[in-house]
Formats: sequence, structure tokens, C-alpha cells
Amino acid sequence: MPLPDTVSALVADDLNTVDDIIRERLRSEVPLIRQVAQYIVSGGGKRLRPILLLLAAGASGYRGKLHLELAAVIEIIHTATLLHDDVVDESDLRRGRQTANALFGNAASVLVGDFLHSRSFQMMVDAGNPKGMRVLADATSLIAEGEVLQLAHCHDANVDEERYLQVIRYKTAKLFEAAARLGGILGDDDGSAEAALGEYGTHLGTAFQIVDDVLDYSGDEEQIGKQVGDDLAEGKPTLPLIHVLRHGTPEQAVVVRQAIESGGRALFPEVLAAVRSSGALQHALDLAEHESLAARNAIVCLADTKYKKALLELTVFAAQRNN
Ligand code: IPE
Ligand code: IPE
Ligand code: MG
Ligand code: MG
Repeated sequence: MPLPDTVSALVADDLNTVDDIIRERLRSEVPLIRQVAQYIVSGGGKRLRPILLLLAAGASGYRGKLHLELAAVIEIIHTATLLHDDVVDESDLRRGRQTANALFGNAASVLVGDFLHSRSFQMMVDAGNPKGMRVLADATSLIAEGEVLQLAHCHDANVDEERYLQVIRYKTAKLFEAAARLGGILGDDDGSAEAALGEYGTHLGTAFQIVDDVLDYSGDEEQIGKQVGDDLAEGKPTLPLIHVLRHGTPEQAVVVRQAIESGGRALFPEVLAAVRSSGALQHALDLAEHESLAARNAIVCLADTKYKKALLELTVFAAQRNN
């Protein structure tokens, strides 16, 4: 399922402003920075994290303008992590076209990713919201820790579900949490909306990444705009593989262990058959559904508004998406 129209319609105007801010803030006198940054930003993307911040701000009653700037900060941080992630993962396709590293090289991607990170910090300072700055600073350092932890797990077939979940909470759910929490900070005065939205974001982001890891096996490349099999190529022990190792037949477990340890794409067809027939993909989708439900439960205390309704719709999208 695509992003629900009702959600996109609710934030459409604000999101256009956020995109204008991003373009404006990514100006640089260095042509290569402009080129690489514009290339990735104009490549589209779902803009899910800024949408989340805008909705969370609305749901907690905020009616000012700072949410637009902070939504731009969140998307710029996300973009920086994508630039770095594609270098580390040696990915060639993103948002339906060549990755920046494939087109401009690893060095340009890493350095422009650094520029985006530091520009996002300038924007946070300009926004002048110390509590928000703390949330974003904590999130960016935890994301980096998550990516490094994941690197340490590559080619390790003994990684269990708990360690896998730790990686995805750090590398992905943390930014979702930060986006939702920031919306709550803007609108909230007693801290209750902030806490509820933060918990919502953590569960939403966890569901989102679990599904991402399923789509790396079973997704349609046209729809996801990325190449399937990238995780296996890097020897990443994601949830579908962990499930086969614990619950598949001994033959399936041998293939998966070997594929994790060696990396590459040679065993992809056999691993795909194993994750399908062992029920591993379904197990992962069930866990995503469970996280999605936890996200819904986290915000029962919020007032019933069109923004809360949209946040609830996002939980369905996160667990059932195909793009
Ligand atoms: C990609 O995020 C990185 C993950 C955490 C899986 P998105 O799927 O939100 O990427 P875009 O921004 O829509 O391209
Ligand atoms: C998400 O992990 C990476 C970040 C949080 C930056 P993935 O490596 O699965 O993301 P994709 O699949 O490349 O988008
Ligand atoms: Mg990747
Ligand atoms: Mg992925």
C-alpha cells in the first residue's frame, strides 16, 4: 500500500514549504555539494519523518511555524544517513535511480553527507529550541552507533532477535521517535504528549524497518526503488534470516548461515526460498504488526483530531507498505 492520500493531503502545503526550506538551506558555493545534495533531495522519497513531525505537532495542538524548520532538519539528517548508508552497504539504486555513490563516488557521498549533518546542526541552533536540540543531538549520535553496531554484526550468523532489534531501534526508530517527540515538544506544556508521541515514534520506526528488511527479500524493485538482495550481499543478519536459523529445517539453516558468512548474491535464490517457505517473512510481518499496534496504543491519550487520525493511518502504512 502507498502512503495514504488522506495523510499526504493533510500535510501537502506544509510539506511544500519544508521542501523549499531544504532547498534554500542546502545552498553552497561549492558546486559538487549543490550537485550531490540536490540529486538526492530531488530524487523524491516518502518524506515520512518530516510528515511525522508535522502531524505530531498538529496532534499536540501546535499552531506556530517552527515545526516547518524542524521538519526540514529531520529530513536533512535522514538524507545524510542515506548518503553514508549507501556507501557502507555498497548500494547502487535508491529512490528508483542510481545512488549518489554510484554516480559521484564514495568520497563525494561521505563528504556531502558530513556537510548535511553539520548544516542540520546549524539549523537546529538557529531554531533556538534547546529541548529540541537535545533530542536531535541524541538521535544523531545513536543512529551512528546503530550503523556501527550493524557493521559489527555483518557476517555474524549468531546475532539473535534481541541484538537485531537493538540495531534497528538505534539506526531507524530513533529518528522516528525524535520526529514525533519534537512535534510533541512544540505543542505540549506538561510533557504528556511528548512522551506519548515519542513512544509512538519508536514503535512506528521499528515496524517500518522490520518491513524494510522483509522488502529487501520480497519487494518489487520498481516499487521500493532499491535493489533487493542488498542486505544479503552485505551479510546482514536481518530478522528473516535469524528466524530461518532458529526455526527452519537444518538444510535451510545451513544455506542461510553460509550466505551470511560469505555475503554476496550467489545464494540469494535459495535464501529467498527458505525465508518464504519457513514462514520467516510472515513472522517478521507479524512482529511489524505487533509494533504497529503498540504505536497505536501509545497515542490513545491524545485528543481525537484529524492529525491523530493520520498518525493512526501511518501505523497501518508502516506495517503493510510495499514501497
Ligand atoms: C530508508 O528510509 C532508510 C530506512 C530506514 C529503511 P525511507 O524508506 O523512508 O526512504 P525514503 O526517504 O522514502 O527514500
Ligand atoms: C536503514 O537501513 C539505514 C539508515 C537508518 C540510514 P537499510 O540499509 O536497510 O536502509 P536501505 O534499505 O538502504 O534504505
Ligand atoms: Mg542500506
Ligand atoms: Mg533496507
